[in-house]
Amino acid sequence: MAIYSSPLKIGNLEVHSRVLQSPLSGVTDLVFRRLVRRFAPDSMLYTEMVNATEISQLQELPQLMVIGDKEQPISMQLFDCRPDFMAVAAKKAVKEGAMTIDINMGCPVNKITKKGGGSSLLRQPEIAEQIVREVVGAVSVPVTVKTRLGWNAQEINIIDFARRLEDAGAQMLTLHARTREQGYHGPADWQWIKRVKEVLSIPVIANGDIVSVEAAINCLEFTRADGVMCSRGTLGYPYLVGEIDYYLKTGKNLPKPTSIDLLSLAKEHLQGLWLYKGQRGIWQARKHLAWYCQDFTGAALWRERFSRIESLGEGCDLIDGAIAQLNLENENIYR
Ligand SMILES: Cc1cc2nc3c(=O)[nH]c(=O)nc-3n(C[C@H](O)[C@H](O)[C@H](O)COP(=O)(O)O)c2cc1C
Repeated sequence: MAIYSSPLKIGNLEVHSRVLQSPLSGVTDLVFRRLVRRFAPDSMLYTEMVNATEISQLQELPQLMVIGDKEQPISMQLFDCRPDFMAVAAKKAVKEGAMTIDINMGCPVNKITKKGGGSSLLRQPEIAEQIVREVVGAVSVPVTVKTRLGWNAQEINIIDFARRLEDAGAQMLTLHARTREQGYHGPADWQWIKRVKEVLSIPVIANGDIVSVEAAINCLEFTRADGVMCSRGTLGYPYLVGEIDYYLKTGKNLPKPTSIDLLSLAKEHLQGLWLYKGQRGIWQARKHLAWYCQDFTGAALWRERFSRIESLGEGCDLIDGAIAQLNLENENIYR
């Protein structure tokens, strides 16, 4: 496992971590990324996916594209199917501070695939190739792709697809080891990551079910991938990327946060969302608070309460209440 403490090379860029925080729409905003960054100082983080057509036409860029101070290394993920719009959007993303441009070729959502973006590009490899070529021609930062195995179990075309993307100039491929039809269900099939790694020269990042240090090690040992990308395992747990990174670099586990640590972080997350987005941030915080609240007696009831908060004060009071209960019942367990 020694190579996993060495830098990850993405084209001409060196990233001092082989653990990446995935783009998560509705989650990986600046507030969440700051929490992840605290525990994972070296890892590549990603913005939420950004609609390239929309931003290629906008004068004023959406909050989604704002990259803060000290966020590097960071990548911006774009989606759509028009190579020319993708190229314009990529230039804007670089101007905002993106160190790589990632192209989404994996999103399964109907609204996006119907317009030819996301995972539907797996069925249009020529267009996918053209997008990569145009974006590579438009920006001087590395261009990467995140995709899936294929449209469904009968149409797994990732080997040919990945080769085409590499030939078109992609500098790294992240493979979510499920088909479009699977959505987020069933176990990720890491076998395909291993096969893709065998045929590509660019770095291959394993994605799907990287939910713990143990899962990351098993995946890396099995696939020989160049790194791992964490996704749902980070929901309500911004420690995960840092925990895996620390283990890969030192062979040691960081101490686990307790339930109270998590609730305290949840409060910070809520306050951050309020400051950054106002009332919209409060509504978005509901799901985050529920995710932080796991594995202790009565957690389901607290989750229910968190999912209805209307204000910062209400959210903070509830979190304080949950912490007080954990202290009272001496139930501050390690997650
Ligand atoms: C709420 C949510 C939002 C997501 N948003 C994005 C996105 O914007 N871009 C992307 O490439 N993948 C997105 N994904 C997919 C994840 O990045 C990842 O590929 C997938 O969840 C598989 O990893 P996992 O099994 O560890 O969760 C999203 C997944 C979830 C659950």
